[in-house]
Amino acid sequence: MKILNIGLYLLVSLSLLCSCSGADDSDNDMDSFISALMDEMTLEEKLGQMNLVTGGDIVTGYVMSNELEQLIRQNQIGGVFNVKGAEKILELQRIAVEETRHGIPLLVGADIIHGYETIFPIPLALSCSWDSVAVERMARISAIESAASGINWTYSPMVDICRDPRWGRIAEGNGEDPYLSSILGPAYVRGYQGKDMSGKDEIMSCVKHFALYGAVEAGRDYTTVDMSRQRMFNEYLPPYKAAIQSGAASVMNSFNLIDGVPAAANKWLMVDVLRDMWGFDGLLATDYGSISEMATLGYAPLTQASVKALEAGTDMDMVSSGYLNTLRESLENKNVSIGMIDRACRRVLEAKYRLGLFKDPYKYCDTTAATTKVFTAEHRRIARDIATETFVLLKNNNQTLPISPKGRIALVGPMADAGNNMCGMWSMTCTPSKHQSLKEAMEEELKDVAELIYAKGCNVYADETTEINANGIRQITRGNDDVMLRQAIAAASKADVIVAALGESAEMSGESASRADIELPDVQKRLLKAMVSTGKPVVLLLFTGRPLVLTWEDANVDAILNIWYGGSEAGAAICDVVFGHVSPSGKLTTTFPRSMGQVPIYYNHMNTSRPDSDPNVFNRYQSNYIDERNEPLYPFGFGLSYTTFAYGELRLDKTTLTEGESIKATINVTNTGDFKATEIVQLYTHDIYASLARPVKELKGFERITLNPGESRDVTFSITPDMLRFYNSKLEYVWEPGEFEVMVGPDSEHLSTCKFELK
Ligand code: BGC
Repeated sequence: MKILNIGLYLLVSLSLLCSCSGADDSDNDMDSFISALMDEMTLEEKLGQMNLVTGGDIVTGYVMSNELEQLIRQNQIGGVFNVKGAEKILELQRIAVEETRHGIPLLVGADIIHGYETIFPIPLALSCSWDSVAVERMARISAIESAASGINWTYSPMVDICRDPRWGRIAEGNGEDPYLSSILGPAYVRGYQGKDMSGKDEIMSCVKHFALYGAVEAGRDYTTVDMSRQRMFNEYLPPYKAAIQSGAASVMNSFNLIDGVPAAANKWLMVDVLRDMWGFDGLLATDYGSISEMATLGYAPLTQASVKALEAGTDMDMVSSGYLNTLRESLENKNVSIGMIDRACRRVLEAKYRLGLFKDPYKYCDTTAATTKVFTAEHRRIARDIATETFVLLKNNNQTLPISPKGRIALVGPMADAGNNMCGMWSMTCTPSKHQSLKEAMEEELKDVAELIYAKGCNVYADETTEINANGIRQITRGNDDVMLRQAIAAASKADVIVAALGESAEMSGESASRADIELPDVQKRLLKAMVSTGKPVVLLLFTGRPLVLTWEDANVDAILNIWYGGSEAGAAICDVVFGHVSPSGKLTTTFPRSMGQVPIYYNHMNTSRPDSDPNVFNRYQSNYIDERNEPLYPFGFGLSYTTFAYGELRLDKTTLTEGESIKATINVTNTGDFKATEIVQLYTHDIYASLARPVKELKGFERITLNPGESRDVTFSITPDMLRFYNSKLEYVWEPGEFEVMVGPDSEHLSTCKFELK
């Protein structure tokens, strides 16, 4: 029935050719085309369009059915996701186009979160580059590779603000700051969608998880969020809004409750905020099984849950089959109207139209494209360069790093020879066996110039059952911990310097990977202690998807370089930094606590009525702990370099600001060391008194600058009243006159401060 559909496309397009003009032509064409199509569709066919099923190749929950082909023939599917392979996708698309009455093509979704085959660092790492150009480039390459592999819809970016490192999904977002995330989210969208999704390598992005998923209680998945509207609007919602308003064509709602109502059924959030306040008219899909899980949340069984979700403007039901199987009955019982069903079905069809699928249903099905467009040398080179920007140097005593490539270097740790663990958890489309391990990359780098002595040293955890490995492909082979420790000590005794590649295995972060204890796992810490007691310089290369508690490490290890998960090219990128070809420049986008009891800990907190006056002692009746300091181990914005940067005094060109004006805040930065390096200069403001208490500081700007040794540069920020707005108790977005502090510096704790007045 392909003919009918394409015929309809041409007929409607031709008849509109003469009648329309102006900027809205394409929207008018789309409306007419879809109206004509929907006039022909039965209720079942409409409900089918609203049903999104998993292909089951990549699984994050239960799988409803494997009989995809049959479901497509029966018009029961509008989209499918997580199917791997262009050939397979082509066949599904062919069935949809040629073996159904209207030949409506499928949306083909996937979690392409930080690359398809060429894998880039995990999003949390990418955010530490503070480089929106790099993020956009990575999303563009992800789109090119995905499009060449049959995929037209990615479930990215995730812009959930997170202040709790127990939550494994902190790895998937941009960290704790709404301003930075509001810059990076749109960069993802631009990269994926390109000009307007019409190009062959442009795919649809999906902003998730709307909303507040990063604030789940106790850092556990699928649970509750409860927060004030002021906090939502000022601290959590801005990144979703920015990404959506940058043109994202779809949104995924979140698993959590908000005000006691599951997000997918939360009419206030989905209709009042998303649709009405922000003007989003794109496709709104649920997360995996959100509708059916409303029953276990204690909200509603499937039939009522489906009604509630539809009422809340949720268009597509991911894997619950609630829309498909219950909405007919609800329509007959007058619990929903045909208008509501039509609206949802229309939005699904509009997304397909905007992707150009009606014009060319096989747009993404060129089965030869992958050979020239996927995992190319060019893509891999870019991934390697970007990875070097994301590592964060947390400590570097006596310039232990970079290491001179000479003499004998011991490499120990379970992450050292685990090429299958370099990419992190959301990289299920890639082929881990293609990735070089750190050991292999170091062998290549040190060939003929230095001796590399490798010993694994330990397992990830002493107890095998604590090692999760849901997908099998990332298993790190196990050995006897005592034997491995002895081998590592022997290797270390022969070496001039020890590199310990430790941390979390890839599956210890991401979805369903919360940790109550965020220290280095038991046997790994034992190995590190043994390495430190050799008295030789020890470099810790830390693989992690979240901030860890590194208090012991910070006190005892010479150098710590946080790698996160660097992607398919991580091995070479680590060598670039460890051996000094590139200076590290990443800065933390999430606070590293001293101990778990400090969580949630984040830089942009409110002041307390009794701030701690001396961090070195316990102060009764002040806001502090008996057994821990207040400050983090490593603050937001922190990251060292191989060079040193000297900051001058902050200067303002004036000290009063009125509407329509700006203040120029200038600071001089000099590279006072021996390395060419990039610095991220950060601007924060503080509203001293306001009708609602405001955070002690909030990031409002930053600039990445690269300076040669000895080079100096003035960095100037422009401060406008608009930057000082916040949502007040009536949720009006206002600035209030009064005194402000402006702070500039290398991280959120080392800042030079001036004051000005907003009139
Ligand atoms: C996750 C989403 C993801 C979806 C589809 C869910 O479990 O929460 O982020 O996009 O699965 O794989």
